[in-house]
Amino acid sequence: MEYITIPMRQKHYDDVLKLWQDRMGRNYPDESKLEDAIDKNKLGKSGFVTINNQNEVLGFSIGEIIPRKKVEQMVPSLDIFDKNVDNIGFFDLNVVKKSLEGNGIGEKQIKVREKYFKNKDVTHFFAICWIRDKHHSEAVLEKVGFTCLRKINNFWYKETKKRNAECIDCGYPCTCTAGIYKKII
Ligand SMILES: CC(C)(COP(=O)(O)OP(=O)(O)OC[C@H]1O[C@@H](n2cnc3c(N)ncnc32)[C@H](O)[C@@H]1OP(=O)(O)O)[C@@H](O)C(=O)NCCC(=O)NCCS
Ligand SMILES: [Zn+2]
Repeated sequence: MEYITIPMRQKHYDDVLKLWQDRMGRNYPDESKLEDAIDKNKLGKSGFVTINNQNEVLGFSIGEIIPRKKVEQMVPSLDIFDKNVDNIGFFDLNVVKKSLEGNGIGEKQIKVREKYFKNKDVTHFFAICWIRDKHHSEAVLEKVGFTCLRKINNFWYKETKKRNAECIDCGYPCTCTAGIYKKII
């Protein structure tokens, strides 16, 4: 199957939003995050989409270059990176159309993002992985060399409550477990 992974553009907005909702659940998409991923590349925020030769969106990824302090805020219980490292490449979202899982698209999106960060001299990576029985996001991260540091229960409980968001796997509020991952190149 043929596909390419390219920077996300405004014309992809509606398709990405729909895919995000389909794969994660009601109120899960954060439109300001999506707008940033399209427009604010220079601030280290970035989006990629995978498309086929008919320009259909098959998957997308969103990420950001963040200061170490922000990582510490997200996971207060863990000391993840050395104090002398400041810019961290955050692999925020990696999503593939359900009917097309297992074709290497998720892995490709991680690799493209890694290259993007590397070109910006970012070598320390961080990901919070949604551990769900059927979707294997841990398997994909581990395949490309990420290491799991810890698993945290009910990671999105408060956030989903605050945003009235429903998790596609477990409902409202989300009681899924997160895997905290890192990679250094
Ligand atoms: C997680 C997700 C992005 C993976 O995308 P994908 O395109 O299916 O993944 P890939 O085809 O690139 O798989 C890469 C590797 O992951 C592992 N993997 C993928 N599917 C697997 C399965 N069903 N069983 C076991 N391992 C699997 C394999 O090691 C695979 O490599 P291989 O095919 O060479 O053996 C996709 O399942 C998804 O969108 N899930 C819903 C959203 C989500 O939870 N995202 C993650 C949190 S943001
Ligand atoms: Zn959940």
